[in-house]
Amino acid sequence: MTSLEKAGWYSLGPRRVHRLGYGAMQLAGAGVFGPPKDRNAAVAVLREAIELGVDHIDTSDFYGPHITNQIIREALHPYRDDLTIVTKIGAKRGADASWLPATSPDELTQAVHDNLRNLGLDVLDVVNLRSTISMYGPAEGSLEPQVTAMAELQQRGLIRHIGLSNVTRRQIEDARHICPIVCVQNLYNLAHRDDDGLIDTLAAESIAYVPFFPLGGFSPLQSSTLSHVATRLEATPMQVALAWLLRRSPNILLIPGTSSVAHLRENLASAEISLPEGAMAALNDLDGVKKGVDVSPAV
Ligand SMILES: NC(=O)c1ccc[n+]([C@@H]2O[C@H](COP(=O)([O-])OP(=O)(O)OC[C@H]3O[C@@H](n4cnc5c(N)ncnc54)[C@H](OP(=O)(O)O)[C@@H]3O)[C@@H](O)[C@H]2O)c1
Repeated sequence: MTSLEKAGWYSLGPRRVHRLGYGAMQLAGAGVFGPPKDRNAAVAVLREAIELGVDHIDTSDFYGPHITNQIIREALHPYRDDLTIVTKIGAKRGADASWLPATSPDELTQAVHDNLRNLGLDVLDVVNLRSTISMYGPAEGSLEPQVTAMAELQQRGLIRHIGLSNVTRRQIEDARHICPIVCVQNLYNLAHRDDDGLIDTLAAESIAYVPFFPLGGFSPLQSSTLSHVATRLEATPMQVALAWLLRRSPNILLIPGTSSVAHLRENLASAEISLPEGAMAALNDLDGVKKGVDVSPAV
């Protein structure tokens, strides 16, 4: 059995994907802007991910912008039939690398066409609407016009399935009155557990929860408890952080990001780790974690 098979599978719409996937945001240049230092290295990470069985890649055309999707196309097109590429729309980049909302129906339609062109696809498997009511975290407010616009793009056959990102429970409920929602992508990791209740609610509804920044984002998680558990299990702290997420709920799909083949292999091997009850309890009670999420609003 491979590491990914040990992680198990969960539904993303009608497709089943391994619970361990890959997030492509780290493949762009510094600040998720411009080209990477080493494009060949980025291509190598993607090819290794597929070689190791990854069948779920998370991306966006505003990484780069455009560059991450173009690298995915260069590395992996024509895509394997079992690969699900999930992208997100709702933001754009300023010339100064800033993250700006792009939520009008015209901008959402343009973003879908940009993703199709840069990924080399005729239809997008799953598209997340990234709420930009606040760039820094979920904030209440109506997403109805955007979700309606996405449902229209779905009816036109450009999008198969719709997800939401950076959203509140209420926004999810409201969106589900407009169209089916197959996944929710919010900030969640060992140190950021605001969505604990939401994860359980979504699990009961068989909706995938895809934590972004599963390792803490631009400043990976640091904690003495995490290091201690990792040492005892002869694993790395990042592997333990991922293993804890895999144990947290069956509807969690992981998309750890990395620009390094070594880190990719390490992350995918986290499914090999069996966390004893004592370690789970220590991690559940974990305090003093450096809340390592950069203030950057990377989306
Ligand atoms: N919806 C949203 O608003 C939103 C926001 C942010 C991200 N996302 C998505 O979520 C995915 C994951 O987030 P993320 O990549 O920003 O954060 P992450 O997965 O929490 O962490 C990535 C960081 O951890 C490092 N890292 C990865 N594996 C490591 C290992 N084994 N040991 C030590 N360091 C390691 C990476 O550096 P190296 O490159 O050196 O490995 C990188 O700095 C993204 O790719 C993106 O698709 C979505």
